Amino acid sequence: MNKNYDTVSLKDFADFEEHDIMGRADIFQQYLAFLRKKNQLNYRIRSTSGAEPVTRIIDPATGKEKEAVSFISNDYLNLTKDPEVIEAGKEALLKYGSGAGASQLIGGNLDIHVELEQRIARFNQMEDSIIYTSGFGANSGSILAMMQKKDLVIMDIFVHASVIDGTFNTNVKWFLHNDMRSLEKALKDARGNYRTIMIIVDGVYSQEADLAPLPDIVALARQYGAYVMVDDAHGMGVFGRNGKGTPEHFDLMGEIDVLTGTFSKSFAGVGGFLCAKKELTDLLKYYARMNIFSAAPTPQVTASVLKAIDIVETRHELRESLWRNINYLKKNLQSMGFDIGNTQSPIFPVIIGDDVKVREAARLLLEQGIYVNPILYPAVPRRVTRLRISLIATHTREHLDLLLNGLEDVSKKLDLPRKKAYV
Ligand SMILES: Cc1ncc(COP(=O)(O)O)c(C=O)c1O
Repeated sequence: MNKNYDTVSLKDFADFEEHDIMGRADIFQQYLAFLRKKNQLNYRIRSTSGAEPVTRIIDPATGKEKEAVSFISNDYLNLTKDPEVIEAGKEALLKYGSGAGASQLIGGNLDIHVELEQRIARFNQMEDSIIYTSGFGANSGSILAMMQKKDLVIMDIFVHASVIDGTFNTNVKWFLHNDMRSLEKALKDARGNYRTIMIIVDGVYSQEADLAPLPDIVALARQYGAYVMVDDAHGMGVFGRNGKGTPEHFDLMGEIDVLTGTFSKSFAGVGGFLCAKKELTDLLKYYARMNIFSAAPTPQVTASVLKAIDIVETRHELRESLWRNINYLKKNLQSMGFDIGNTQSPIFPVIIGDDVKVREAARLLLEQGIYVNPILYPAVPRRVTRLRISLIATHTREHLDLLLNGLEDVSKKLDLPRKKAYV
């Protein structure tokens, strides 16, 4: 293998014809050691405080604990630290213990699990839901159970990995990102050839940070006899007047055939769900292996999430604060000339298009106490590798200004690409 590790990426270690798995692991160690030596291994950084605007981390450069203003969390309303959310979890922990003891199918089905299924369905104005221990499992496990050899999934090229991993047992067509002509072509080609046709999109794309044009997608699906599945992991809590996500934003509540999401972002816990008509969720409760052969969510997280759903619906000021932050950062990043793609959400890509510069920028920012994620190839194409910034409701103006100043400084040091200034 090429020993200039600056020019390689994680993709280069995904498979090695000449090495078995242990040999491959040994070679990958050398790459990790290379990045560590340059202080550019900005992954799996240890946090000692959890999700807050200012977090405590173990600095990979020094091995010592330090404070950093954090822009890595998807806990958009910062409910993981809300006293009511924590109290609800504590009470459930005391009442039910630390685990459910079995899968929901065979005895681990606590009353609060059933309450959560009904609550998240009601939140989304859908008939029923099935819950999973991750959003990843909600997508991949449900699709694996729903879509078979005679069926077809048509999906946007930027859907989340969990959607892609669900499609191993079915047929797949891709359409270009948010391109309705490309989707319509796929639907035309597919018409009459498959038993079930399911269009799958993300409500908010986790890397591009833009929204799927749901009204157009639903209209095309109706026209061509397809179903629509939306993964609104990043939408719920953030979009819509009552925080109900992209379906509410587009005035499509109850119009999506299959709606999935996660409890790990605005709902401040962990786990995921699928909402649909009751007949479908009942079927999945007997056929989705990710649910039936896997232990039920912990009582603590179930109760905390139930409380978080109440707060998402009622404390509008949190969402307003988040949007004030989004608008402030967007305006400033644009006037500084950074390429932030077509972001419409709390996620900001700062596109750099050079793996080494992205890693170095993340390192320099961390040195200044600013914690952002480097997003490299193969997570995104090489020409659009980037820093990824996520905002939460509890960031203050000072936090955002620190970030903007840090980016200005690092951009000068590394000669980062800037578009013509917008001002
Ligand atoms: C769009 C999208 N869907 C699904 C998931 C998976 O959710 P979870 O973290 O609950 O497994 C993520 C997580 O990052 C995501 O961004």
